[in-house]
Amino acid sequence: MPPLAAVKTPLYLKLARSLEEQMSRGVLRPGDRLPSVRAFSRQQRVSISTVLEAYIWLENRGAIESRPKSGFFVRVPFAKTVPEPRFQTPAPRPASFSASAIVREVIRSADRPGNVPLGSALPDPQLMPNAKLNQILRRIIRRYPMHSAEYTFPPGAEGLRRQIARRALGFGCSLAPSEILVTSGAMEALNLALRAVARAGDVIAVESPTYFGGLDAIQSLGMRVIEIPTHPSEGMSLDLLENAIRKHRVKACVTISNGHNPLGYVLSDDYKKALAELTAKHDVALIEDNLYGDLAYGPRPPKLAKSFDQKGNVLLCASISKVISPGFRLGWIHAGRYQEELEQLKLKTTVATATLPQLVAGEYLESGGFDRYLVRLRIAFAEQVRMVSQAVAKYFPEGTRITRPAAGYLLWVELPKKIDSLKLFRMAVDANIGMVPGPIFSTTGRFGNCLRLSCGYRWSDTIDRALVTLGRACDEIARGGVRSQA
Ligand SMILES: Cc1ncc(COP(=O)(O)O)c(C=O)c1O
Repeated sequence: MPPLAAVKTPLYLKLARSLEEQMSRGVLRPGDRLPSVRAFSRQQRVSISTVLEAYIWLENRGAIESRPKSGFFVRVPFAKTVPEPRFQTPAPRPASFSASAIVREVIRSADRPGNVPLGSALPDPQLMPNAKLNQILRRIIRRYPMHSAEYTFPPGAEGLRRQIARRALGFGCSLAPSEILVTSGAMEALNLALRAVARAGDVIAVESPTYFGGLDAIQSLGMRVIEIPTHPSEGMSLDLLENAIRKHRVKACVTISNGHNPLGYVLSDDYKKALAELTAKHDVALIEDNLYGDLAYGPRPPKLAKSFDQKGNVLLCASISKVISPGFRLGWIHAGRYQEELEQLKLKTTVATATLPQLVAGEYLESGGFDRYLVRLRIAFAEQVRMVSQAVAKYFPEGTRITRPAAGYLLWVELPKKIDSLKLFRMAVDANIGMVPGPIFSTTGRFGNCLRLSCGYRWSDTIDRALVTLGRACDEIARGGVRSQA
């Protein structure tokens, strides 16, 4: 197995992982009380805050729970018998399989009334701050009755850009509001970033598997994708990325460093630094998609590769789609040395981003309470991921593997080799159950036995029953009871 770059894991994470290991081996069992924070810090010779961070991280992942005045206790183990997906390392080469037709089917089927929402990467609307947004909306309409009568030209509404810059500090990035360009969602940010740094025919390196919308964007611009083998919790191999850069003259690299879609990992600070340095060394633009960064379960916001960017080489893209509103279609980009070009491209593409959502989101972010809301949201998602993981462990066939997300609400499931996830997808569509088949996360047709489940919705009996149905469908496919459909 090729080594990942030598990256250091933070102490609290090492401690948390060793406790997780003890839980999975049954040394610590459900209901067991963990040592007190003070006692454990003495025993491990680490600071009290390191132990607290480790406990909070485990609590956010649903592995332990704190009981008032009693301490921390082990919960029902997180999918204890189900291992993580394997790290596979096929030789990277540019490939061109396009899954847009299946992507359209996935989106269309998710829109059907009564569809069980395990497919699209959408948060439960009930968890979103709708009431607060509506309140602000009413206030803004009263204050600026002419809001819809003019363009808000690039770079976008100043109040919103100030809030974005303020929040970026939490991710270790000092960005000037004037350098931030507001876009129509992260999708527009990604498209503009690609157009600014590469041309048709150029090679773009990506994690594998990766978000199908990003793959679609690269291919629709006539660029070629090269997939870098990616560890399910530690990111793409930096050694293999460097080889690919040397061999295929890679022009840009796309990474989803916090809350990867579909793997759910959060890369370590050392990894991000190494990635920023490696790409800068070879003059390869780094497009960093931080869509899920606010949903990292850790005690503090994770850093970004952008925070280690010395040369303006990182184009940081994000949006409010996963934490405030997907419907506002509001995203942004900090494009480093490509900023001027980005603004030109924005003008040529959509001219400006809609004004009203910018005003509402800017005020919402300023109004306070967003961080408290995010804590509740993260806890809800971690719990939903835990429930779905347990159900997969219970209902899916022997040999199934699942990721251990460190952010967000997406779960990547690796089924036994002989189970074709496209067949499973067709059966799920017939049963009106959402799920996303693995091959659309690749341009090579890989991941035929994998699928992504979204845990964005509150746990319910309906979701439980849907997972029973999917588990049975897997059994049926494994027995050979379902014929292939071309
Ligand atoms: C990793 C990633 N990037 C970008 C997008 C697109 O985001 P937006 O809705 O803000 O355009 C998504 C949507 O699911 C995503 O998962």
